[in-house]
Order: sequence, then C-alpha cells, then structure tokens
Amino acid sequence: MAEEAVIKNTGLRGVTVADTKISYIDGEKGVLIYRGYRIEDIVKNSTFEETAYMLIKGHLPTSSELNEFKSNIASAASLSEYLADSMKLWPKDTNSMRVLSAAISIAAFHDRIDDVSLESYEGKATALIAAMAVAPVAWERIRNGKEPVAYSTDMSHAENILHMMTGEKPDPEVARVLDICLILHADHTFNASTFACREVASTQADIYAGVLAGLAALSGPLHGGANEKAMQMMDELKTEPDIESWIKNKLSKKEKIYGMGHAVYKTYDPRATILKELLEKLSAKTGQSALFDLCASVEDIAVKVLSEKGKDKIKPNIDFYSGTVYKMMGFPHDLFTPLFAVSRIAGWCAHIIEERFGLAQEKPSLYRPAAEYVGNYCGLMGCEYTSNT
Ligand SMILES: CC(C)(COP(=O)(O)OP(=O)(O)OC[C@H]1O[C@@H](n2cnc3c(N)ncnc32)[C@H](O)[C@@H]1OP(=O)(O)O)[C@@H](O)C(=O)NCCC(=O)NCCS
Repeated sequence: MAEEAVIKNTGLRGVTVADTKISYIDGEKGVLIYRGYRIEDIVKNSTFEETAYMLIKGHLPTSSELNEFKSNIASAASLSEYLADSMKLWPKDTNSMRVLSAAISIAAFHDRIDDVSLESYEGKATALIAAMAVAPVAWERIRNGKEPVAYSTDMSHAENILHMMTGEKPDPEVARVLDICLILHADHTFNASTFACREVASTQADIYAGVLAGLAALSGPLHGGANEKAMQMMDELKTEPDIESWIKNKLSKKEKIYGMGHAVYKTYDPRATILKELLEKLSAKTGQSALFDLCASVEDIAVKVLSEKGKDKIKPNIDFYSGTVYKMMGFPHDLFTPLFAVSRIAGWCAHIIEERFGLAQEKPSLYRPAAEYVGNYCGLMGCEYTSNT
C-alpha cells in the first residue's frame, strides 16, 4: 500500500511546495527577510504602508508611488453603510474573527470579483488592506453603542487604527509602536494562513476567497490565536505565586505554553526580540512596567523549564509579546488576532498575486499533496462489503 510514499507524517515541515520572491526565513539563525531586506532594517527605516507596497509590488516605492498607495488605501477605507447597519444587528458577543470574515465577504459584494488581471488584483489588495483595518475597530465601537470614526488622510495607517478605535488623536510614539507591530506581522513565508490563501488561489478562486481562507486559518490558537492565549496566560499568572510550578504542571499535562515555540524558528524569533524591546519602552511610558517584568520572567522560566526537558530550541515567538503590546495600547483581548490580520493582509495579498499570476517559478497550477493511507485495506479489489444494517 502506497509503497512509493517516501516522506511520512511531515505536516509539510521542510517540504518545498513552491518558489517565492516575497520573504525568507532562516529558522536556525533567526533571520527574517522581506523582498531582500532584513526585518531589523525595515522596522528602523520603513512604515507599514511602505512595507505593504513593497511586499505586493516587489520593490520599494518612490515617494509619489507611496503617496498614491496611501491615498488609494484612504479612499477605500470608508465603512459602507450596509456593513455599519449590518454590524448593528449582529450579536455583541460574536467572535471578532467571524466579524472580520463577514466584513470581508461584504466588501466583496461591492467589488468586481470576476475582474482577473494583475492590475485589478493590486487594486483589490489596496481595498482589502483598507477593509481589514476599518472593520475590527468599527466593530469595537458599534458593539459598545458608539458611532464609527472615519479614516483620515492626515494620519498614518497605524494612527488611523488607534484613532478609529478611540476617537482621540493618538500619541505618536504609541502609533509608531503599532506601526512596527504591523510591519513585523506583515509576512512570514508559507505559514498556515498564507499557505491557505495560496492553496485557495491555486484553484483560481478569487482574491476574497483566498483571504477568507487565510482568516479562517489565522483564527486557530496554534497560529494567530496564540497572542490572545498568551495574554490570558499572563493575566492568570499575575496572581500566581509559583510560576515555575505552574509551567511544569502545564507541561506535565502535555499542554502548550502559548507564544512559545515555532514550526520554523529553532532559536529566538527575531520579531519577538524587536517586540520585547518595544514592550519594555511602552510599559515604561504607560506606567505598566510590572506587566513587562511579568512577561520577561515568564519567558525566562519557561525557556529554562523547557530546556531542562531537552526542548532547548523552544523560544518565545512574536505572539508571546504582541498581545501584551496591544493590551497596553488599550485594545480588547478579542481584537488581538484581528490586528494580526490587519497587518498580514499585505502578505496574504502579495502571496495570492504571486500564486495567481505565476510571478515566481512555474509549478503545477493546483496544490494537491499526497497522504499515506493507513486505513482498512484488502487490496485493489476492495474489502468484501457486508452491511451492518
Ligand atoms: C507553533 C507550534 C505549533 C510549532 O510546533 P512544532 O515545532 O511544529 O512542533 P510540535 O507542536 O509538534 O511540538 C514539538 C514538541 O515540542 C513541544 N512544544 C512545542 N511548542 C511548545 C509549547 N509552546 N509549549 C510546550 N511544548 C511545546 C510539543 O509539545 C512537542 O513535544 P513532544 O515531542 O514531547 O510531543 C508549537 O510550538 C506551538 O503549539 N506553540 C504554541 C502556540 C503558538 O505560540 N503559536 C504561534 C506560533 S507563531
């Protein structure tokens, strides 16, 4: 049975399924590169808008290209009356990732989804970046009985997100931290949600269908949902006198420590290192240093305990810190994963475009992996059928 199968039970780890020119990870050395640039250089020198343009178009924009891109995002960033009215009818406790999926489905109502050209897909990517940013913060206001706040052409994307949530002019330093968070989450090669987007795009389904698949994959606690779980853990540990025993107890029950470990990084996730530094600064600025100290000590203890168990390659990933950063900025817990999508939409669109328009190397059009059949088998004639009814 399936004797030719060479690779078994891989979960696709280390299996190359396509070429890409968008991003690169060296998991052993802890290196992340977008379009040839190291993430450390990008966060020092760039903004989310410029990074998103680069991911989608393949090159850094000139200032006029960047201005046009920003103005296209702003033009697309109005909450449709239909969506606002619909949100008012949705149960207030609806899962916010479901809200986001519904908002993106509704955005597709207003678009020509049958228009398949590179130019049209790049335009749709801009509209999706706008729609993804507007929906979660509008939902936060509407479910609290407030009117949505409009996107402003005078502010950056990150400033707009904070402004659309609170209605107040954001602190520039806090907005810059959010901008960096958006850059850090914007792409990450063939992670679960991006692969879901590409897999759907490979069927020639439209860009919205691909993005909806990405949102579904991102919602899981082993992927984008980990930031909320990690924050819940910090909340629980605030009053815990013995963190080491708490962690040992979790591990003895075969439970995961959220925000730790990574399918590709076998050392520190470079995004977590950047975010930890930002969190320290943000905590000092917002008078929440005790929360930063707690995170840092949970990290130290978890790394030590895991290492004692021979798992010395399990280190914090970006989600260990991102939830705490968002909490310090005033976002509710259930918007942490949507915020991941607000950023990752740039990478998803870049990958859908690369997949759909064959911008890397040629490959078979449709993904179709094999599986090892380990079920009931009586030869190619099949087993003798005996009904149980
Ligand atoms: C992300 C993740 C799925 C990657 O895992 P992986 O390296 O592909 O492999 P596995 O999940 O199969 O884990 C391999 C081993 O390490 C352990 N491990 C991995 N991450 C762990 C964690 N966060 N806490 C405790 N144990 C962990 C597993 O229990 C498993 O142990 P075993 O071999 O004794 O069964 C995993 O690290 C995880 O679940 N992390 C928590 C969720 C999270 O933070 N996700 C965000 C990723 S950016």
